[in-house]
Amino acid sequence: MELNIAVLPGDGIGPEIIEQAIKVVDAIGNKYGHKINYTYGHVGAVAIDKTGNPYPDETHEICMNADAVLFGAIGDPKYDNDPSAKIRPEQGLLAMRKKLGLYANIRPTATFKSLVNRSPLKTELVDGADFVTIRELTGGIYFGEPRGKSEDGQKAFDTCIYTVEEIQRIAKLAFEYARNRNKKLTAVDKANILATSRLWRSTIQEMAPDYPDVELEFLYVDAAAMRIIQWPKGFDVIVTENLFGDILTDEASVISGSLGLSPSASIGIHTSVFEPIHGSYPQAAGKNIANPNGTILSAAMMLEYAFKLNDEAEAIKKAVDASLEEGIVTEDIAEGVNPSSTSEVGDWIAKKI
Ligand code: IPM
Ligand code: MN
Repeated sequence: MELNIAVLPGDGIGPEIIEQAIKVVDAIGNKYGHKINYTYGHVGAVAIDKTGNPYPDETHEICMNADAVLFGAIGDPKYDNDPSAKIRPEQGLLAMRKKLGLYANIRPTATFKSLVNRSPLKTELVDGADFVTIRELTGGIYFGEPRGKSEDGQKAFDTCIYTVEEIQRIAKLAFEYARNRNKKLTAVDKANILATSRLWRSTIQEMAPDYPDVELEFLYVDAAAMRIIQWPKGFDVIVTENLFGDILTDEASVISGSLGLSPSASIGIHTSVFEPIHGSYPQAAGKNIANPNGTILSAAMMLEYAFKLNDEAEAIKKAVDASLEEGIVTEDIAEGVNPSSTSEVGDWIAKKI
């Protein structure tokens, strides 16, 4: 098979972790006889430096022409410390999500046998936890207008908007996802307070009779935040709006043992994007210490979702498991073993494949 992949390393640790994922995808190409073509593009702070735009048209073209996009990370402290900056790297990620129509972000929370002791949660709570959060990605407060600051600077506002259509398309995906897993769907909202949440709830309730085989429950986001830590094994598939999904999936990553291990797939209308859920981790940039596994596992999701190459995806997951078992891990999860560098982990996993 011929795979055309757009590669957007982005900022901070992005280039280093992407390099490891490419090694691993190349190893898969060699082993299974696939021809893999990569086209690189700029996004985020590096794109602002080069073009003034965090998601330049050239980058969008590259993404539109590819079969899948592999994405590193975005963000730069020089913008974080300047709230008045008009152009920000994060706008590049949001523009990409919007222009590619990536309305669904699929974030699995998996546990790794060899790491259950690494989680700050008790082993018996974590062992066997396995759920997927489906986060709406192109609506809600991230995109709603109007937004901004009053003229006197004394007031700021954001707007949360959802349409029935937006809720239906993500809920359909979530119901179907649950149908193919353990048939339980938890819809997370704040329907006791928010009008948008009430629309989510009524829309999902109306759809439920079409999925009689899926057990549906509703949970307020504050209670969900607690339950994720208290009893993670109670979840199968979670569906929620953009901001709640952002927050809950960072929380859920703690269950696995490190934010650096969590992959994601963003799918929708045009080319799908595969990216780790962590950010650009600027403190570690260039130091060869960041955990590349979130990106490597995102590449596995890419092979599975964009190319239906399930054996190849499985081979990556097995190699990552083996690296964790052997203690070939970066410092964030190297308890009791000598930490390996980012590139050593990538080399080891590629060689294993
Ligand atoms: C994520 C990130 C982004 C988000 C940021 C970098 C804009 O936190 O992918 O979860 O908030 O969606
Ligand atoms: Mn986030």
